[in-house]
Amino acid sequence: MREDLNVPMSKGAISDDARIRAAVPTLLHLAQRGAMVIVVSHLGRPKGVEPDLSLRPIAMHLARALDREVHFAEDCIGEPARVAVGKLQNGQVLLLENVRFHPEEEANDADFAHRLAALAELFVNDAFAVSHRAHASVVGVAAYLPAFAGELMEAELTALHQALDNPRRPMFAVVGGAKVSTKVGVLRNLLNKVDALLVGGAMANTFFKARGYPTGTGLVEDSALVEARQVAEKAGRKLLLPVDLVCARQMEAGQPLRIMDADRVEAGWMALDIGPKSVALFTQRLRGAGAVVWNGPMGVSEIRDFSDGTKAIGEAIASSGGYSLVGGGDTVAAVDALGLAGRFSHVSTGGGATLEYLEGKELPGIAILKEA
Ligand code: 3PG
Repeated sequence: MREDLNVPMSKGAISDDARIRAAVPTLLHLAQRGAMVIVVSHLGRPKGVEPDLSLRPIAMHLARALDREVHFAEDCIGEPARVAVGKLQNGQVLLLENVRFHPEEEANDADFAHRLAALAELFVNDAFAVSHRAHASVVGVAAYLPAFAGELMEAELTALHQALDNPRRPMFAVVGGAKVSTKVGVLRNLLNKVDALLVGGAMANTFFKARGYPTGTGLVEDSALVEARQVAEKAGRKLLLPVDLVCARQMEAGQPLRIMDADRVEAGWMALDIGPKSVALFTQRLRGAGAVVWNGPMGVSEIRDFSDGTKAIGEAIASSGGYSLVGGGDTVAAVDALGLAGRFSHVSTGGGATLEYLEGKELPGIAILKEA
């Protein structure tokens, strides 16, 4: 089983276990039906063996989530893996050490993939969140084993398909976050599908500057002005930008705040959230939605003073009555922090993978399953 147990950690503790919980159904299903389940995952981006990125603490957490013992092997190939697999009984679960401790994983090395595959009889990819990586444990192993999608993979793809390919109308996308450059592919692809594109977050500043509005000291990506202009031109009336902004002189809690019109941000001030008129405009638009895809916060939502816009838009999406899909790492973190978890039709476990899917790209880990 390829799982994505790449969870955020802080000081050795798991700060968000959503990916571990999401892995449980397929793992339990297979174990309960008597499979010997060998789990492969990465954690972080190690350069060689980095003890801080060991999956051992994850094995303990996974055992609690599964309510059954999880065995652990000190290496994902070689003697430690072979011995641990040899001891495995039907219905038992074994987690192998971080597969990225071997650089051959990211190189999609055929020999390494073969050695991993030799441990098992079937390959199940349940790791949607890493399926944009053509790595050995995601793509390579499928050359040697019959390959299948797990239940989480199926749920992710079903949700994305429902929201993007055959949505109920009207269909809206809400896109935020800091940079236009990292999301220009997403914006372009979504424009082909949506009835309206609502943009917030610092990326809106780049659209404002492209229109010639003053943006004060707000974050603007000058290198993406041309792309912003092109997206705006293509979008025409489909593009909805904020009309007012919550501004401060510094990006810090406790600063004096002012609401400024989007075309009148004063020198020395920066936009850090969307303002109340924008919230009303976006909320009004989202009412009666058939489907909404949401990626990216509306402001610096990790600072309480600048989180109202993101929270209000999250509420509006959740109560729009439409099918709601939330994806991308920052958005999911914001949803949890603002108490909106459980309010959406589907919250994706994917960060980069969800973005690439939203860009319309084919993910190599999914392409290989389709081939299989
Ligand atoms: C993620 O967290 O998005 C996935 O686990 C992939 O991790 P990566 O960006 O290090 O490949």
